[in-house]
Amino acid sequence: MFDLLIVNARVVNEGTIRELDVGILDGRIDAIAPSLSRDAKKVIDARGRYLLPGMIDDQVHFREPGLTSKGDMATESAAAVAGGITTYMEMPNVKPPTLDSQALENKYALARGRSHANYAFYHGASNDNLEAIKALDPSATCGIKIFMGASTGNMLVDAPQTLEDIFASAKIPVITHCEDTPMIQESERQARERFGEQVPFSLHGEIRSREACYKSSSMAIDLARKHGTRLHVLHLTTAEEMALFEPGPVEGKLITAEACVHHLWFCDEDYERLGSWIKCNPAIKTAADRQAIREAVNDGRIDIVATDHAPHTLEEKNNPYFSAPSGMPLVQHALSSLLDQVSAGHFELTTIVEKTSHNVARRFELEDRGFVREGYMADLVLVDLEKRFTVIRDELLYKCGWSPFENKALRGSIDTTIVNGVVAWDGKRLAEAPAGERVTYRRR
Ligand code: DOR
Repeated sequence: MFDLLIVNARVVNEGTIRELDVGILDGRIDAIAPSLSRDAKKVIDARGRYLLPGMIDDQVHFREPGLTSKGDMATESAAAVAGGITTYMEMPNVKPPTLDSQALENKYALARGRSHANYAFYHGASNDNLEAIKALDPSATCGIKIFMGASTGNMLVDAPQTLEDIFASAKIPVITHCEDTPMIQESERQARERFGEQVPFSLHGEIRSREACYKSSSMAIDLARKHGTRLHVLHLTTAEEMALFEPGPVEGKLITAEACVHHLWFCDEDYERLGSWIKCNPAIKTAADRQAIREAVNDGRIDIVATDHAPHTLEEKNNPYFSAPSGMPLVQHALSSLLDQVSAGHFELTTIVEKTSHNVARRFELEDRGFVREGYMADLVLVDLEKRFTVIRDELLYKCGWSPFENKALRGSIDTTIVNGVVAWDGKRLAEAPAGERVTYRRR
């Protein structure tokens, strides 16, 4: 007897879409076949909808500990499962920052029993925590996050020898935020000279310039090649940077590349309407850049699509340019925004599944997640590609209570999200008991 049986699903997995039944037992996918006749405690008739491996978001900021007026693990993971995300990897720019294994374990303790999705936490880098990085247990964290450009939190790593040492000694993937801070500081100085504090938000993409992105991304790539480091470059934003990466399967790559949903959705024309709401780092750039990133997703130079979910309160966001923080909440509508782009013809559904799930599991060597395979954990999402809905504030689960997608009609709803075999989101409600678990790795 299955705990849960999903029948008549169009299962999207490893490049194929097939009509299958999926039986779940003890949190895992127990059987996959064209027709399963065993009894089940609960049956979901998928009636031609699509069943995907849940999205694994390798870049979120859930703000705990220390910044919980913006969000916390309970609220933001609730929004994540409502958006079809079953696993997240969370960033170290919290208070105190995650710069040693004690801080890391504190975060796992905070997530236990409170997280609706599975969780992993990054170990941060600073200009002076090399010894902690060298001592890292590879099973304790998804990767080492380096801010090679300053952003929210004071975590910039800019000492050249420290960067060399981290790249040389890392035993697990190194993840970088790439923007050249001195170049940005110079453009900020010029903008201040011209506009004072009232810098128009539409200049954000010029202030945090394409040149600053290219310089820093190139530097990270050079360091990875020199030291043989497994490098994952986060949230790329410019057409020029796409040329720095190669197509091909993730397994064969030393260096992988990421795009984020907001850079695939918005462009500089949206600053007029959304202003500070879409101020983020790296900045949203032009429609031509967005098009180049979409092409790179399709030709394999972009390996992973994530969110960089970065909530801030509306009060903070309503400040003038220099004091309005960068970042926006995204997890609840990230996958829907990608499904909408499938309907619009920008992507194949199989490509979206590869970039949001399979490739993340491959890059970070996650154990038994990221695929619809017998024996794997039952982290699944049932989506309706045809269903249109409008994003409304009342339905947002974010603690900050706003979204850059508000009042937007999206085509592609998240009908059911299953985490470790449990229905974590049924399209209207969350499971009473959060089902998220700490992820494990195939790292020996
Ligand atoms: O826009 C951003 N916000 N980019 C980052 O790198 C950090 C993030 C945040 O934590 O707010």
